[in-house]
Amino acid sequence: MALAVLAGCAVVFVVAAALAVALPEDGEPEGGPPALAAVHGLDLGVAVAVEPLLRDGGYRDVVTGNYTSVTAENTMKWDAVQPERGGFDWSGPDAVMDFAEAEGLDVRGHTLLWHNQLPAWLERGSFDPPELRRIMREHIGALVGRYQGRVEAWDVVNEPFVDEGAALRENLWYGVLGEDYIAEALWAAHEVDPEARLYINEFGIEGGGAKADALYALAEDLVDRGVPLHGIGFQGHFVHGQVPEDLASTMRRFTDLGLEVAVTELDVRVPEPVTEAELDAQAGEYRRVVESCLDVPGCVGVTVWGVDDGHSWIPEWFPGYTSATPFDEDHRPKPALEGIVEALSRRPTPPSSG
Ligand code: G3I
Repeated sequence: MALAVLAGCAVVFVVAAALAVALPEDGEPEGGPPALAAVHGLDLGVAVAVEPLLRDGGYRDVVTGNYTSVTAENTMKWDAVQPERGGFDWSGPDAVMDFAEAEGLDVRGHTLLWHNQLPAWLERGSFDPPELRRIMREHIGALVGRYQGRVEAWDVVNEPFVDEGAALRENLWYGVLGEDYIAEALWAAHEVDPEARLYINEFGIEGGGAKADALYALAEDLVDRGVPLHGIGFQGHFVHGQVPEDLASTMRRFTDLGLEVAVTELDVRVPEPVTEAELDAQAGEYRRVVESCLDVPGCVGVTVWGVDDGHSWIPEWFPGYTSATPFDEDHRPKPALEGIVEALSRRPTPPSSG
């Protein structure tokens, strides 16, 4: 009991220390985004690509100067990690982990099971359930095991539902192992790293609707069965002018299940040609998303999907749209960063007692 009390005191001290660092007399936190996020106990993250991380000092400076967490945008996906069956390439994941740990940044692992970016041997293979189960457990064992205790959270299953609607996506895993592939993957990851927070990560759920309802039903079932699901990732790939008003209420449905939530892939794409007025309005959208997370006890973080507009996936995937991140292609901050800072500059909500 004594140790628990001491541990509790230590936690209070750490939070108080963070508050003391960034909380002046008027109680309004000060400092850059990392210090402000720490005051709220929030992870403020960004998705990083290996090549610019290793070769571009300006890119690295944006990460270390503005964020407390990183997600590997592509290098921890199956096609990069296990391009040949049994042949692993750890160069990219190790580079991200080494950078994060050298800079004191947390890491979100992305992603274990997805329908995209699978290597040919897996995507085109023909496996019976026992063999695919073995392949899945070997991959999760190798990847989660290599970074055991060093990755804060894993997107264990990414986008399990169809793009538009409430049906489970008939991906490779579903087709061979059935719907319970999701529970199996969560158990497999939990057995390898019992400390990691395990997420289902999805898009198109942020404003509620049929997909959010279906994910809620799945999450409720998994929680009721005691499956180690700890969080729901709200990707947050938004179109300028269409950021949902009810992000917080949708999040609260899941935190009411006892789950944590996070915005895991935030970007707000703007149609070209982009105007100053639109960038100012985009700042308000970034602010509202961060405020929504701050308004929901159990929302643990916001991750932006891309360090700057020059390294954003948006122009390739959504021709005619651009300017989706808080930094321009020359690593200069945009009004969207001010929006994040404004949201984080509010007085922190006192930790709930007990
Ligand atoms: O690695 C190859 C490289 O060898 C080759 O020369 C090049 C030729 O174009 O392609 C490279 O692969 C690209 C890969 O990113 C790594 O850069 C793929 O073509 C490209 O399609 C892939 O795009 C990624 C996309 O997922 C794939 O679906 C984006 O960068 C990445 O931001 C995006 O991220 C996903 C999340 O993981 C899940 N949520 C949705 C989000 C957007 O789709």
